[in-house]
Amino acid sequence: MTSLFRTGDLAQLDPLIGADLRISVGGEQRRYIDLDAAATTSASAGVVRAVQEFLPWYSSVHRGAGAKSQYTSARYEQARETIVRFVGADPATHVGLFPRNTTEGLNQIAFRLGLTRDDIVVTTAVEHHANLLPWQRHAQVRVVDVDRSGTYDVAAVVAALDERPTPRVLAVSGASNVTGWMPDLAAIAAAARDRGVLVVVDGAQLVPHRPVDMAALGIDVLAWSGHKMFAPFGASGLVVDRRLLADGEPFLVGGGAVKAVSHEEVIWADTPDRDDAGTPNVVGVVALAAAAEELLAGGARNRLHEDLLVRALDDELATVPGLRRLGPTSGDRLPVAAFVIHGMPHGEVADRLSREHGIGVRSGCFCAHPYLSRLFGLTPSEVQQFHDDARVNRADRLPGAVRVSCSSATPLADVATLGEALRAITASRGDVLGRPAATAGRGR
Ligand SMILES: Cc1ncc(COP(=O)(O)O)c(C=O)c1O
Repeated sequence: MTSLFRTGDLAQLDPLIGADLRISVGGEQRRYIDLDAAATTSASAGVVRAVQEFLPWYSSVHRGAGAKSQYTSARYEQARETIVRFVGADPATHVGLFPRNTTEGLNQIAFRLGLTRDDIVVTTAVEHHANLLPWQRHAQVRVVDVDRSGTYDVAAVVAALDERPTPRVLAVSGASNVTGWMPDLAAIAAAARDRGVLVVVDGAQLVPHRPVDMAALGIDVLAWSGHKMFAPFGASGLVVDRRLLADGEPFLVGGGAVKAVSHEEVIWADTPDRDDAGTPNVVGVVALAAAAEELLAGGARNRLHEDLLVRALDDELATVPGLRRLGPTSGDRLPVAAFVIHGMPHGEVADRLSREHGIGVRSGCFCAHPYLSRLFGLTPSEVQQFHDDARVNRADRLPGAVRVSCSSATPLADVATLGEALRAITASRGDVLGRPAATAGRGR
């Protein structure tokens, strides 16, 4: 396929938009250090260029006879093909859809599979709430548990797949947003497929960091977010085996999703139109496709840099007194690290990194409450206390951690600055020693 995007130059690691932002830190202007890529990345220069080049042509999709509308429609359909190929699927067998984010994509597929309360979905304790709550809403979930290191093995998944009743779906994250841990996706997907179980992967963290080959891995559905891979214009990816969308009502109903409508009957369009009601966010879609092409071009160079970031994080965090990492600290991981510091509330560490050092990180539970409960080794009664505190808005009592996360565009020097900042913060903590480390924050 010929590319409509001028993205090859991004392979040179252009700085992200805003990489040189300066903020006031203790009265002094400093470069803002963004170590929150697992939440959202800034836009890449290549993505912004693609959007700017497209904007004069921006028009309605599939509804106008004019040249602009035809060009816009062509770009939209081409982007569909781009994202399908980006994740190693074949446009003849898989369709690309553009939800707002991973959450919407997973809600959409959980609805579209037509699950009932008798259906079982196997999922894991690692999941972000986005890959748990949609399944809990439509079916019964069977959860593969993790150990204190926050990992599970293939045998545990196989055991859950072999339990009766036989599940319909296996829904797993390709990588944890808390610890950066990656399960053996190839092995667990193969085990599910051998048993005729559909494989749905939450790729929100995996896709921005690693090439994903849906065909080779045997994945039926993959969802991920544009805003976590340098395309912050509101469109994301959902790639689905076309057979799963052949029948049934769409998630969103309205214009564009139908062949014919009367007050008595609706004849739904074929997918993708059936699953694309309303006017789409074509600017976001152009950005998403540009980001996909950039990531493909970045390939091995990105990987090399990210592996250096993982090692730099390990080295820096190991030198911070009283710091305890959550999750595995060896093996293949993404450049993401969650930790607590003895005697310091997680919210306070994050606030001080921001106020005193101009470093942006996240603190709290990272929308993965069951996983955090396991990583902290909470007992059932402690989990109950957590819920009781949440019910009465006692955010200060909720457990949590600090998370730092990098993208392929994070300079290595920023990790060194983080280490210095954490050492400075811990050096001044005498007054708070003795407070429980994991609590006192405000994260969700
Ligand atoms: C693993 C994982 N899944 C799902 C999501 C939800 O993504 P979004 O907020 O873009 O819907 C996130 C967001 O952090 C995530 O890290």
